This record gives sequence, C-alpha cells and structure tokens, in this order.
Amino acid sequence: MNLLGPDLTLMLGLLAGVLCVVGLQGLSHPTTARRGNLCAMLGVGLAVVLALLHPSVQAYGWVLAGLAVGAAVGIPLARRTPLTALPQLVAMFHSLVGLAAGLVAVGMFMRHDVLDVLQTKETLEMGVGAAIGLITLTGSVLAALKLQGVVSGTPWRWVGRHWLNLGLAVGLVLMCAVFVATHSGWALALICLLALVLGVTVVAPIGGADMPVVVSMLNSYSGWAAAATGFMLEQPLLVLVGALVGVSGAILSYVMCHAMQRSFVSVILGGFGSAGTEAAAVGTTDGGKAPQLAGVEDVAYRLSEAERVIVVPGYGMAVAQAQHAVKSLMVTLGERHVEVLFAIHPVAGRMPGHMNVLLAEADIPYDMVLELDDVNPRFAEADVVLILGANDVVNPAAQTHKGSPIYGMPVLEAWHAKQVYVVKRSHRPGYAGVDNPLFTMDNCALVLGDAKDVVEKIGTALKAA
Ligand code: TAP
Repeated sequence: MNLLGPDLTLMLGLLAGVLCVVGLQGLSHPTTARRGNLCAMLGVGLAVVLALLHPSVQAYGWVLAGLAVGAAVGIPLARRTPLTALPQLVAMFHSLVGLAAGLVAVGMFMRHDVLDVLQTKETLEMGVGAAIGLITLTGSVLAALKLQGVVSGTPWRWVGRHWLNLGLAVGLVLMCAVFVATHSGWALALICLLALVLGVTVVAPIGGADMPVVVSMLNSYSGWAAAATGFMLEQPLLVLVGALVGVSGAILSYVMCHAMQRSFVSVILGGFGSAGTEAAAVGTTDGGKAPQLAGVEDVAYRLSEAERVIVVPGYGMAVAQAQHAVKSLMVTLGERHVEVLFAIHPVAGRMPGHMNVLLAEADIPYDMVLELDDVNPRFAEADVVLILGANDVVNPAAQTHKGSPIYGMPVLEAWHAKQVYVVKRSHRPGYAGVDNPLFTMDNCALVLGDAKDVVEKIGTALKAA
C-alpha cells in the first residue's frame, strides 16, 4: 500500500535527502553540530517511514520484529559505550551495513528462481553490492577488533601481500564480469568469498597510527554498499544517502591523510611503500635515559609563575574524563591573568574531533582552542605546556626518526616551550607503540597519575600558592 501517492512520496523523499545534506553541513562546526545532527536524524527518520510505505513492503510483522530486536541490542549498546570506544562501535555499524548489502544481493539472487529473468543491470548491482558490502563487513570487523585491542594493532605484514591484494581485486572484478555474463550462482558465491578475504587482507597490514583513516575509509565503503543496496531495492533515497556517506567518508579519509601527511593510496593499499618501518618502531628514546619526574606542587609552582600556558589534551584526558577538572584549572589560571590556550591535534584521541567534543562539553570557549598549524608557532612563547594523556601527537620522533611508524605525521611541537609537564599513569607508550624522546628532554618531566586526579590536585595546589 502507498498511502501518499507517487508525487508526495517523491517530494518527501527529496525533503529527506535535503535534510541529510543540511545535517552534514551543520556537522562541520561545533556551534551548528547539534542542529546538524537533528536535521540528519529527521531526514533518515523520514526516509525510513517512506521506505516502510513502499508498495513492495508487505510483511510488516517481520519489519517490526526486526526493529524491536535491533532496538533491544542497539540502544543499550550505544548507551553503555564510552566515548573512547566510539570508533570500534562505528566500525561495527559499518560492518552491519556491509552485511546488509551482501545479504540483500544474495537474497535478491535467490528470489529469482528462473535465472533467465535476471537482467544485466540487476546482476551488476548484485555483484557490486555483494563485493563492496562483504569487503566492508570483514574489514570493519577486523578494524573494530584492532581498535578494541582484541587483536594486535601492530601491522601484520607478509611477503607478497600487495600481489595477494592485487590478485584478489582482479579476481573480484573478473568474477563480477562472469556473474553478469552467466548469471550463475557459483560466480556470485566466489564474489562473496573473494570479497570476505580481501576485507581482511587490506585492513590487516595497516598499523595502529593509520587506523583513523581506515575507519573513515570503511565509513565511505559502507556508504557505497548502501548505495548499491538502494539500486538493488530500487530505493532512490537509499542511493542518495549512501552516496552522501560514501563521498563524505572519502573526503574525510583524504583530509585525515593530508593532516597526517600520509599518502591516501598507500594507506588503503595496506601501508604500501612503508616497508621497513617496523624495525625502528622501538628504541627512539635518548640512549635509555630515564625521564625526570615531577609532583603536583612543582607544576602548580611553575603555573603560578607563568604568563602563557598551553594545554595539550590527548586520549588519556578522555579516559580520565578530566575535561571538567581542566576547565576549572583554566578558570583558576584566568583569575591569575595567565593566558591559556588548548592545542588540538587532528588525530588526538580515538575519533575525529574527539578533543573538540570533550572541550565543548566542558564549555571551554572555541577561541581558546587552536589547531595544529596555528598553535605550533606559539609553543616557543609558552612558559608551561601541560600535556594531559597525549603521547603520539607530541612525539618528536615523527620529525626525527625516519624508520618510525609515525615518521612524517605532523605533531604538536610542545618541546619548544620553556617547561613541559606530561601527565600519564606509567612509562607505557601511546597508541602507535613507539617510545617518545620528548619525555627524556631536559625541559620535560612526567607527572605520574590519572589525568583527572592530577589536574584536580594541581588546581588545589595552585589556589593555595
Ligand atoms: P596516545 O598516543 O594513545 O597516548 C595516550 C596516552 O594517554 C598514553 O600514553 C597513556 O599513558 C595515557 N593515558 C591513558 N589513560 C590515562 C589516564 N586515565 N590518565 C592519564 N593518562 C592516561 O594518544 P594521543 O596522543 O591522543 O594520540 C592518538 C593516537 O591514536 C594516534 O596514534 C592516532 O593515530 C591514534 N588513533 C586516533 C584516532 C582518531 S581519529 N583520533 C582513531 C584511532 C587511533 P599511560 O598508559 O602511561 O597512562
């Protein structure tokens, strides 16, 4: 049944598409992000209602049962997942989009019991949908497992991996051509198999520091998988929304690669051209020199004497949920007429914009938050730099150690400041698993402890100073 009629359905479909575009645009700035999110939710909600009213939908019982099961699993999962684990959750969502595209392709094929009724267009849609969908499925599951630490985040490299990937990709294209020409089930089965393997072999060689790009690339793939599903189901709105996700994910991947000075092609081909980096992954500290340690009173004293302070938040600030304590310290410093700035690295934390979200949550004014290019020249003027749970993003090895896996990634040049304090819990390395020579520099000291606890204690000591 279609209660709305074709014209109204088309108009509302267009409105849903426009709401999604406006939503994406709103997400480009923190001040408009909430509104953008609301617009996109309305757009997708409207699209779901329109899809349910499509004349081909008959079995509403199954649809409602599916919605109930999805909601029963999804709502508690989303509520319980901490912000730090969002990339894994997003990767798992991408895997579901890929699985759906693969299942729709196989299901559509199985519905055509008389193979002759299949047209070239339909088989092409099924072949491409299954290929992109199932690469997304296994690639996303492996990415989520790597991000969660269930499997090692270090790159899995084997001799001839590029030839293997190339062979699998060529095989996939050939099988799609065979499937379109013959409409045979075995060709579709081989497409599924090759795609499932290719998803694993493309993501496996990509190392920890490049995982942000992988997640946004899989985001893009999931969009294309959704668009292919839209073609198969003759749902133009799904094609439109899928294409929006596909293109925006691709642009995000490109922007992140640019920010990290990585070649987009190298990353998506599994670290192509980065052979030999593993050997120098460790041993980048200054001849085994131990880092200096400082206490909260030392930090409070230096802060009480300072005129300019730069705070560098990282993943550890998110783990400790220290953002409100940081805001309170910022207010105390402000009362003492100390200039405070926040330095944000594009891949600090575990998702794009992670630090911006946390600082916005604590109502830290946007004009105090500077991006990498703007803040790097300011470090030399800073009396104190307070690094809160950041490690890879302040690692000078990215500029000095050619063999390091993070070599070439732009970093926050905190070491130019007069004094640097790094708040962390132990001597363990950051996400990329490499030593940090900053920690043993003469102007740097570690303050060991949980970021929230340490910042609160510094605040108390500063008030007493
Ligand atoms: P990391 O290099 O991961 O370092 C975080 C530091 O925080 C660790 O050294 C850890 O040391 C410390 N820490 C953890 N919990 C803490 C707590 N409760 N209190 C105080 N310190 C704590 O973080 P980063 O500098 O933000 O760099 C991000 C890394 O993640 C990059 O390598 C990036 O490529 C990768 N990555 C980023 C994303 C995106 S899109 N942002 C996504 C996936 C991966 P201790 O254990 O000693 O405390």
